[in-house]
Amino acid sequence: MKAIAIEEYGDVKNLHEIELEVPKLAADEVLLENYATSINPIDWKARLGYLKGMFDWNFPVVLGWDVAGVITKVGDNVIDFKVGDKVFARPDIYNDGKKGAYAEYVAVKEDKLALKPNDISFEEAAAVPLAGLTALQVIEDRLKIKKGDKVLIQGGAGGVGIFAIQIAKYLGAYVATTASKKNHDFLKSLGADEVIDYHENKITDVLSGYDAVFDTINAIDDGLAILKADGRLVTIAGKPTAEQKIGSKDVSEWWLQPNGKQLQQLTDLIVSKEVRVIIDSVYPLTTQGLRDAHEKSQSGHAKGKIVIKVK
Ligand SMILES: NC(=O)c1ccc[n+]([C@@H]2O[C@H](COP(=O)([O-])OP(=O)(O)OC[C@H]3O[C@@H](n4cnc5c(N)ncnc54)[C@H](OP(=O)(O)O)[C@@H]3O)[C@@H](O)[C@H]2O)c1
Repeated sequence: MKAIAIEEYGDVKNLHEIELEVPKLAADEVLLENYATSINPIDWKARLGYLKGMFDWNFPVVLGWDVAGVITKVGDNVIDFKVGDKVFARPDIYNDGKKGAYAEYVAVKEDKLALKPNDISFEEAAAVPLAGLTALQVIEDRLKIKKGDKVLIQGGAGGVGIFAIQIAKYLGAYVATTASKKNHDFLKSLGADEVIDYHENKITDVLSGYDAVFDTINAIDDGLAILKADGRLVTIAGKPTAEQKIGSKDVSEWWLQPNGKQLQQLTDLIVSKEVRVIIDSVYPLTTQGLRDAHEKSQSGHAKGKIVIKVK
């Protein structure tokens, strides 16, 4: 099968098309014919070698951790899914480094899958799992946002921010967010109550007394400064220091846990139109397509998700 892989860590020129064997299935996995995947910042961070300490991959390494496609094969222990099902997932990150989603076929554990609703395309579905699950797990499970809470979501126009704003509004929160001016009207149309231009204003000058902060940009001190004494902060972009953890405020980091049941919950919000999927751009599964998509993501100014159309 065709795949796009890196042969060593480094810049986008290291992304190349290769031929790879279709993944062999474990008993609890299904094989998907991949229709679409999407780019997340972890992809270019991995390409640059920032995940070396977490994963001991052998080259060539296939990146990519969102997938939407059609099941072509099921493992012996798979119960809830069958050949022909249209599904999507944030697959596990495997230690062999070969099972990423920049490929025509992807193996995924059954418990990571959700059925793709007919209302959304494969491209839209591929934009959801990694960013959407991160937003859901932080807003609902970690920050425990409830009606009337005041929450700041940093980086509102990014892949995670867009889902987080909509989920927090669905739960009844007052939502402030940060973005460049060109994105303000757009983020208000998604429900944000207040948008701060981070190029012109420091959040510490304009916000205070917040119940919760979702930090997506590693600005933990700023987040802590605007919280109430018993406020909560979760970061997905940094690591709180021992000093930042002292005191009455609850500060922690979060790493997404792939989960098919929660992806189904997110799907229900999309089908009921509580949550819209926002796509910045679509690129093909080619060497050039992946290089362009990585550059776009690494620019730090995508509006929503960057998608790769595979089929
Ligand atoms: N721990 C985990 O499990 C986990 C999961 C997902 C993501 N992450 C991490 O979370 C971060 C965000 O991910 P993402 O997918 O949302 O990234 P993204 O889509 O690349 O984010 C792009 C957005 O960031 C905004 N931005 C850039 N600098 C900003 C700043 N100083 N203040 C406010 N907004 C700023 C830009 O807004 P403007 O264009 O409006 O300036 C742009 O819309 C990344 O570091 C990623 O690696 C971690």
